[in-house]
Amino acid sequence: METVLSGIRSTGHLHLGNYFGALRNFVKMQNDYNCFFFIADLHSLTTHPHPDDFHASVKIILSEYLAAGLDPDKCALFIQSDIPEVSELYVLLNMLAYKGEMERTASFKDKVRLNPENVNTGLLTYPVLMAADILVHRANYVPVGKDQEQHLEITRVLARRFNSMYGCDVFPEPQSFKFGSGPIKVPGLDGNGKMGKSEGNGIYLYDDEQTITKKVMRAVTDSGPTEPNSEKPVVIENLFTLLKLVSEPSTVEYFNEKWNDCSIRYGDLKKQLAADICKVTLPIREKIDAIYNDDAYLHRVTSEGRDKARASASATLALAKKAVGFRTF
Ligand code: ADP
Ligand code: TRP
Repeated sequence: METVLSGIRSTGHLHLGNYFGALRNFVKMQNDYNCFFFIADLHSLTTHPHPDDFHASVKIILSEYLAAGLDPDKCALFIQSDIPEVSELYVLLNMLAYKGEMERTASFKDKVRLNPENVNTGLLTYPVLMAADILVHRANYVPVGKDQEQHLEITRVLARRFNSMYGCDVFPEPQSFKFGSGPIKVPGLDGNGKMGKSEGNGIYLYDDEQTITKKVMRAVTDSGPTEPNSEKPVVIENLFTLLKLVSEPSTVEYFNEKWNDCSIRYGDLKKQLAADICKVTLPIREKIDAIYNDDAYLHRVTSEGRDKARASASATLALAKKAVGFRTF
C-alpha cells in the first residue's frame, strides 16, 4: 500500500478551508492508503508561541482532527515532536541544503517581508524540517496546497541529493497527492480570495451557531443582478461556492434560479448558507468539546500514533545513517 503523509502547524483552530480543502479528503483516504497525519508543533515554534499556550494549541488541532473523522485505528495520528528521528534526520539533511536555495524559497521571502524582526534560521530551514517529516516515512504522496508545492520540490531535491551523494536509494521522491475531485479553493466571505487563518476571514469548525450566522450575514455582496442570466460577480460566486459545499443540490438550484430571474434576496441566501454550514460544523463542534476534555483518550491516541510513527521513522533513519557512514562501536 502506498504511503500518504500530511502535517499541519499547531496554530489556531481549523477553518472550513482546512476542512473542505484537506481534512474531509483525509478522512476518505485513511481507507485506501497507509496514512500518516501529524501536528507540526516544531514548525510552529518559528513564531515563538508563549509556553503557556503551546500545548493547548496542539491539543486543539488534535481534538479537531479526531472530531472531524480521522480514525487513529486506521491511520498514524501523531505529534511531530514525539518523533525524535525527525529532528535527527533534519540535522543530516541540513548538511545538504544550501543557504542560497533556502533564501530563494518564496515562503521564506514572504516571512522576511512580513516579520523582518524575527528572521531566525529555523525559518530559513523550515523546508528542511518539512523534508525530514516526509522522508523519514519514505512517503510516496503528500497532499499540499499551492503554497507548499515549493517545499515539496525542495524535499525531492534533498532526497535526490542524499541518494546520489551517498550512492543509495533510501529516499523515494514524494509526489503531490491530487484528490479525485481536483483541488478546491474555499473562498473567504470578505471578497479577499481564499479563506485562511492569516487572512482573518475564517469560519471555524469550532465557531458556535451565533458566530457562524454573524460571519455569514456580514459577507460582502453587491446591489443585486440587473439582467436575467448574467454572470455572477466574484463575491456572489463565493457564496455559491460555499453553498455547493454544504447544501443540498436542490437548494443550490433554487438560489441559482432566483439569481437568474433577478429575484434573489441575499438575506435569504445567507440565512440558508449559515444554517447549512451549522448542519456540517455543529455536530463536529460537539465532538471537539468531548474529545478535548478526554485526556485519557488523547493520551492513548498520541501514544499509539507515536509508536506507529517511530517504528517507521527509526527504520528509515537506520538506513540513512548507515548510508552516511555511521557505525556502532
Ligand atoms: P491557513 O491558510 O489558514 O494558514 P494552512 O496553510 O494551515 O491554512 O492550511 C493547511 C491546509 O489546509 C492547506 O495545505 C490546504 O490543503 C488546506 N486549506 C487551507 N485553506 C484552504 C482554502 N481556503 N481552500 C482550500 N484548502 C485550504
Ligand atoms: N508546512 C506545512 C504548512 O504550513 C505543514 C507541514 C509541516 C507539512 N510538515 C509537513 C505538510 C509535511 C505536509 C508534509 O501547511
